[in-house]
Amino acid sequence: MNQQKSVLKVGLAGLGVVGSEVARQLTTRSVALGAAAGCELRLVAIAARDRMANRGFNTSTMMWVESAADMAAIEELDIVVEMIGGSEGVALDIVRNALVAGKHVVTANKALLAHHGSELATLAEENDVGLLFEASVAGGIPAIKTLREGLAGNEFSRVSGILNGTCNYILTRMEKTGEAFDNVLAEAQNLGYAEAEPSLDVDGIDAAHKLTLLGAIAFGQKPNFDAVFIQGIRDVAAVDFTYANKLGFRIKLVGVAEPGMAPRMQTCLLPLNCQLAKVNGVLNAVEFHGSPIGGTLSIGQGAGAGATASAVLADLIDIGRGRITLPFGRPVAELSEINSTRKQDGEDTPFYLRLMVVDQPGVLADVTKVLQNHQISVESLLQQGRSPDDVVPLVMTTHETSGTALASALVAIETLEAVRARPVAMPILPDEVEG
Ligand code: HSE
Repeated sequence: MNQQKSVLKVGLAGLGVVGSEVARQLTTRSVALGAAAGCELRLVAIAARDRMANRGFNTSTMMWVESAADMAAIEELDIVVEMIGGSEGVALDIVRNALVAGKHVVTANKALLAHHGSELATLAEENDVGLLFEASVAGGIPAIKTLREGLAGNEFSRVSGILNGTCNYILTRMEKTGEAFDNVLAEAQNLGYAEAEPSLDVDGIDAAHKLTLLGAIAFGQKPNFDAVFIQGIRDVAAVDFTYANKLGFRIKLVGVAEPGMAPRMQTCLLPLNCQLAKVNGVLNAVEFHGSPIGGTLSIGQGAGAGATASAVLADLIDIGRGRITLPFGRPVAELSEINSTRKQDGEDTPFYLRLMVVDQPGVLADVTKVLQNHQISVESLLQQGRSPDDVVPLVMTTHETSGTALASALVAIETLEAVRARPVAMPILPDEVEG
């Protein structure tokens, strides 16, 4: 390891919002960062799409690398910071090649690690270098370090959280304004909170990447994105917020990882008074449950230049100080496999169901018959207003049931003549952090 060096030479691939902030920090705060790292962290090489863009820091002393893929081959670099993104292509090539070349890697790339984490961690081990990715999960919340170092002595029973600020913003605004998903998404795009192509966020994929990494560290598993059950926020309608509130709940996209089960990223109902339910807007939150800690919750900015750059700087400082740990907390050879694939298995939970039905006699009996056939017991029922010639929402909550039993019941319910849209089902999660 390089902790004795007085200068660590850094190459930075990718100068988007976060990459540029990292560069600005390294160039304008070099004395303070050097004091923290115990050595100078000198940015000597950069690569980006547009050489001419003005990014607010002086590039004149830096080597411009025409093709980002060549960054890993620069002999003098000690550390490569990968800020390009994406699970394949250039980002994967740079990280692989840098590790093989004996360079430390710092990345914010959750997709890359969720798909290739075992292979890359193995390369880091074999080449005795660090692969650090604090910035990949919940930016300003040190979730990786909390799990891997701060809470390392615990036996975790559950790690859960709100891991996508875009979705949390959209859900918060839908509840507040009563607007439809599409309108609020457009507003989020105008404000720069959502991408023009929003599917990575709103379909739960970005959050599932992050959950994959948290679950891997908490439970000593190989990161396996393909095992995660994912249900994004597109199906939520404004009416669901009204009913959820009447029932004492709030709607959130929540990821849950538990030992021995496939992680689940789902749009859920949370009790209004629980702490996660109070995390609104673009904020992220991670709850850690284990023994002996009990429960603890971290809340913070999950994305954005400052929060994400802060995490990258922490990783660079760790390298400077020689605090380089195994990427997933233990050797890859000791990580277990998750066998389950994309199943909604987990503990049985109560569910919220919303059906759009024709308002006629006998509809409720037909629906409850299907639920009875699947051993699903109804806990409460809401149908407000009357509209005999129209389609109305029929909302139910169930007692604890398995996700697979419910999925099968919903397939049958959807075929009923009176049911006029795909049923919407969301698990109701308990409030556990104080428990
Ligand atoms: N788009 C993500 C979010 C941040 O909205 O939280 C990057 O993972």
